[in-house]
Amino acid sequence: MHTTVPAGLTRKQAELYAKLDPERLPQHIAVIMDGNGRWARRRHLPRIAGHKRGVEAVRDVITLGARIHLQALTLYAFSAENWKRPKTETSFLMALLRTYLKNEVPLMNENNIQLRYIGRIHELPPEVQERMAWATDQTSKNTGMVMTLALNYGARAELIDAFRSILEAAANNGGLEHLTIDEALVSSHMYSKLPDPDLVIRTSGEMRLSNFLLWQLAYTEIYVTQTLWPDFDGTHLLEALADFQRRERRYGNVGAAF
Ligand code: IPE
Ligand code: IPE
Ligand code: MG
Repeated sequence: MHTTVPAGLTRKQAELYAKLDPERLPQHIAVIMDGNGRWARRRHLPRIAGHKRGVEAVRDVITLGARIHLQALTLYAFSAENWKRPKTETSFLMALLRTYLKNEVPLMNENNIQLRYIGRIHELPPEVQERMAWATDQTSKNTGMVMTLALNYGARAELIDAFRSILEAAANNGGLEHLTIDEALVSSHMYSKLPDPDLVIRTSGEMRLSNFLLWQLAYTEIYVTQTLWPDFDGTHLLEALADFQRRERRYGNVGAAF
């Protein structure tokens, strides 16, 4: 197998990439970026220091993703349930998000990344929504990797919104009996029209989905690493890809050995 290693990878990354089968890279990866608080606690720092470092991990991972021509990367950045945290932390996270969007647009443009969002965006503070719209606009001409930030996102909320939107479509089109309710229809009413993720990564060792993409992850391969999000980088992403390529995706069928 001959693999052309993309430019810009470190030596270790190039070695890892060369062992991958470029024909079988996941098209869409979703990441539950967890462990910022524990990263900070281990260093006797406030939790927000972990969130700040988490931004650096995002930078490294999206750059690597773009370099290896991933089609889509979806990052769980703030859940609908994260509002339960102390106000000081949620306010910090909202401010961090604004700063992030302001500072990272050039990197997204350098890497041809298109920025999108999923979640109940209209419930976020107006100044955050404004910055989000600005950043999407600034990256709208890019044609490479689609980077989706899940913000104020909850999968049950997404399903509820999809049911509402299906009922609305039915009301506007002569009633439910005129709609064929199947998987394609339900998928088309989800926040994003991207193909389902092939791989979901959760950092920090937690073995749960925490209300992330419940519909879309039905047959997604799950990779959990003990690495805390602020320590995660492009090299770790390539290790997850190597693990993914060792899997056999059966979708309910019998395996290739039978
Ligand atoms: C993930 O890290 C970031 C967000 C949920 C915003 P955490 O803040 O959940 O970190 P831990 O899980 O407490 O270590
Ligand atoms: C999931 O992490 C949400 C994000 C990473 C944004 P949490 O830290 O909120 O999840 P739980 O509370 O441990 O399930
Ligand atoms: Mg957590």
